Amino acid sequence: MTDHRIASTSHRAKVMSAEDAALLIAPNTTVGLSGFTASGYPTAVPLALAARIEAEHAAGRPFKLRIWTGASTGPELDGALAKADGIEFRRPYNSDPTCRDRINRGEMAYFDMHLSQVAPVAWQGFLGPLDTAIIQVTGIREDGALIPASSVGNNKTWLDRAAQVILEVNRWQNPELLGMHDIYYGTALPPNRVPIPLIRAGDRIGEPCFRCDPNKIVAIVETDRPDRNAGFTAPGADDLAIAGHLLEFLEHEVSKGRLPPSLLPLQSGVGNTANAVLTGLIDAPFEDLTAYTEVIQDGMMALMDSGKLRVASSTALSLSPELTERVNHNMGEYRDRIILRPQEISNHPEVIRRLGCIAMNGMIEADIYGNVNSTHVMGSRIQNGIGGSGDFARNAYISIFMSASTAKGGKISTLVPAVSHVDHINQDVQVIVTEQGLADLRGLSPKQRARVIIDTCAHPSFRPMLEDYYQRALKGSYGLQTPMLLDEALSWHTRFVRTGSMAA
Ligand code: COA
Repeated sequence: MTDHRIASTSHRAKVMSAEDAALLIAPNTTVGLSGFTASGYPTAVPLALAARIEAEHAAGRPFKLRIWTGASTGPELDGALAKADGIEFRRPYNSDPTCRDRINRGEMAYFDMHLSQVAPVAWQGFLGPLDTAIIQVTGIREDGALIPASSVGNNKTWLDRAAQVILEVNRWQNPELLGMHDIYYGTALPPNRVPIPLIRAGDRIGEPCFRCDPNKIVAIVETDRPDRNAGFTAPGADDLAIAGHLLEFLEHEVSKGRLPPSLLPLQSGVGNTANAVLTGLIDAPFEDLTAYTEVIQDGMMALMDSGKLRVASSTALSLSPELTERVNHNMGEYRDRIILRPQEISNHPEVIRRLGCIAMNGMIEADIYGNVNSTHVMGSRIQNGIGGSGDFARNAYISIFMSASTAKGGKISTLVPAVSHVDHINQDVQVIVTEQGLADLRGLSPKQRARVIIDTCAHPSFRPMLEDYYQRALKGSYGLQTPMLLDEALSWHTRFVRTGSMAA
């Protein structure tokens, strides 16, 4: 491999194989890696590390690591290390199936965190020291500045905090990424914090590259693997119905003068439904849209290509394989319209509140009062994690949660008497949308919310059951502010665990 991506000769001297780099990581240490979705994450060193861990285990020697990232990553990182049983503790988000299984079997500790809080919490110090950072970059400039790759995540913080740094220079990433990033170095811990000087979604307040003390860099590995996000399926009838309700709601809000015709900066979660909503915006009567979000997926690129989306701020590109290749090839065309920031800025509560984002996220379930569970199936099995949904939901101008009204082939109602785990309290949830309809909960009391959610969002096969529960709760509840039958509120979940269906 040529080394034209590494302009600094002193850095070039540190190029080595992934296997040699992996030997520099000691067992029982903490490793902070790049990656936010399967974008911009290291692959060669984690794969070599996983092989080393397997060999150590085969020789009867324990070898586990504490793994911190931006958010989810790809199979060469989370998947490989989890298969090797090399992860003792995982933070702050995971969507890898092998990790998920280990977590839910109690074999791996996991703390899913608000993504905006990871960097500040790392700086507070109670997570312990960061021994090694492994960061994918697009290139190294002559002055040693690091050109970021297709995600930023917590890289700035890992580079600053780690005792030693290993870089993966990925030649697949287009060098035209230089100039797309906005790395802000003005954050600090209290009492030295100052306002984030970001007034519009498209503002740039930082630098194009990461700084990194060259003395800390112990290895540089060259790779050429592409980003590897999953593709999207064509939107199903439920996705299209949800998108339709949501777009109608946004048009209504504009007609009432509660939203400007260009809306407010959009935040969109991941998944097929979110993708359908974004794609639907192409034909909606809004112009000059902006996005302030944490991932840019296919629907947002389509919106940008249609000319409707002027600018998008994010911390990662998270595109299907087809779009990954096309966008990577034409990166220069997007450099002025996409801004990739550290996740403590892309998800910063102060900025989200100031910009007035329209937050649209998926959910596992909501209860009749509008509390939302985004993370745990049947109260105890983690699906992914809270991700950025809490950062955005609490601080948004309008906080929207969406899901089909049933899951698992109709055996589960996603609208339940009480959620089995709470991620977003009812005060942070203003709109719930299912394929059945949209419940605008703003300004409603708990009992008014229950009425709208049951009538509008519930699936017809579960609506009578919800109505029956609610009517009995109105009579038998200890208090009537938020009626609840304590011995029955989670009975739908216990029935599912017992029989495989929530239906009575
Ligand atoms: N009970 C049990 N399982 C449920 C469920 C419920 N109420 N609702 C969804 N599921 C299951 C689905 O069956 C599916 O399982 P499968 O993969 O085995 O088929 C899985 O959860 C994903 O659901 P899906 O319907 O495909 O929706 P999605 O891709 O939109 O994901 C969340 C929904 C909630 C899991 C996803 O939005 C998430 O992880 N959110 C938290 C993080 C977040 O919001 N980030 C946003 C900022 S980017």
